[in-house]
Amino acid sequence: MSKNTYHITTFGCQMNEHDSEKLAGMLLQMGYYESPDKSAADVIIINTCSVREHADERFFGTLGQLKKVKEDNPLKTIAVCGCMMQQPHIVEKLKSKYPWIDIIFGTHNLQEFPKLLSNSLNDRNKTIDVWRENGDIVEGLPAKRKYDFKSFVNIMYGCNNFCSYCIVPYTRGRERSRHPSEIISEIEALVLTGVLEITLLGQNVNSYGNNCDFDMSFSELIYKLNDIQGLERIRFMTSHPKDLSDDLIQAYRDCSKLSKYIHLPIQSGSNRILKKMNRNYTRENYLSIVEKLRIAVPGIAISTDFIVGFPGETEDDFQDTIDLVDSIGFDSAYTFLYSIRKGTPAESFSDQVPEDIKHKRFNRLVEVLNKHSALRNEAYQGKLVQVLVEGPSKNNKMIYAGRTDTNKLVNIRTNKEAIGKIIDVLITETRSFSLFGKAVDSERY
Ligand code: SAH
Ligand code: SF4
Ligand code: F3S
Repeated sequence: MSKNTYHITTFGCQMNEHDSEKLAGMLLQMGYYESPDKSAADVIIINTCSVREHADERFFGTLGQLKKVKEDNPLKTIAVCGCMMQQPHIVEKLKSKYPWIDIIFGTHNLQEFPKLLSNSLNDRNKTIDVWRENGDIVEGLPAKRKYDFKSFVNIMYGCNNFCSYCIVPYTRGRERSRHPSEIISEIEALVLTGVLEITLLGQNVNSYGNNCDFDMSFSELIYKLNDIQGLERIRFMTSHPKDLSDDLIQAYRDCSKLSKYIHLPIQSGSNRILKKMNRNYTRENYLSIVEKLRIAVPGIAISTDFIVGFPGETEDDFQDTIDLVDSIGFDSAYTFLYSIRKGTPAESFSDQVPEDIKHKRFNRLVEVLNKHSALRNEAYQGKLVQVLVEGPSKNNKMIYAGRTDTNKLVNIRTNKEAIGKIIDVLITETRSFSLFGKAVDSERY
């Protein structure tokens, strides 16, 4: 008998990637196997993102290709889920224009997928089940993790910040934190299977534990995790500048396993724009956090996000962003063109920036950011670093890629023995987006 197979396409952030790992875990429990080839799979899932228009477009592009696959083999199950499904106008569009989709579900009922799949297989009727409100946190879902030696761990779900441009609070619901004992036992179990590095996931990890029936802050959680024997590295995503506490900065001093790295999205260097974005901090607040972090953790790497062309952004506002980049000198940054999201406050802001101006500013900003990335990386020349080796590099199978504690990508000429290990590497060359090095223990690696 041939095996039943599945294929999952994932758009969006780490939260979505980890949701897909959970879907894969549920499918494995149901006896399915992963198919590397999307069109050959019996169950095809698209896990969507709606953070920018481009993400929406890519989803509809993928759907266009699947239409033919479904026509050729109507017994296949096509399921769509994720953030886009939490938007009623998208579900309406799917119902009217893509009637061949079998299952539509959202971010709040991931755990229901096995039930939705068997219902759909039994009666071959279209199943639409999207919950408007978030339910209780569901513990104990299986997950098929991408790596054996590093892993995502959710610590909280949802977002209460309502930045005026952002769709996430509408697609992921209100903030809720997992109980620390659940987080700790999940990580202890992972470490027993050989996991060395964990990345704690939340839209705003600094508000971990707010409005909960337990008493633990994010920094207190870090101290607890730092005590787990066998765990080597603790990372987290994402932290919001408005509530990054001095306690967390102290945790960087005290907890040896906390990575010397932080992703701290700033979005803009202009106080006027930050206010319109509802970010609740100023550029001065941000500069002061960076200063404190750099004093507490010499060598800490800082990355950030920018939105270019937010409604009302003038040349002066944009210049404030450039000046801020020059005074901070980020290690790396993601730069996004502002994209109107339906249902967000900024959708109705009248002073949208013309596309050509947005693009010109985008290019100017990227140029300045790249210059700083290259400078930051130059400081690594000749240095000894510890790299967690992940696997062969994308472009050259003889070279292996891994990350330093500071999250720098390092390419190393080594062998597959090194995969999943933290090894000493001497940096021999630096570029804007990566470093090159050789293993110190050249006999073994
Ligand atoms: N919770 C995280 C990440 C949210 S989404 C945080 O608060 O930082 C990731 C990034 O996408 C954001 O930091 C922002 O830079 C970008 N983004 C979100 N909405 C956007 C929009 N409407 N247009 C362009 N970029 C957007
Ligand atoms: Fe979106 Fe702001 Fe929440 Fe981040 S903090 S997810 S940008 S609303
Ligand atoms: Fe996208 Fe949803 Fe993540 S909108 S960025 S997949 S939380």
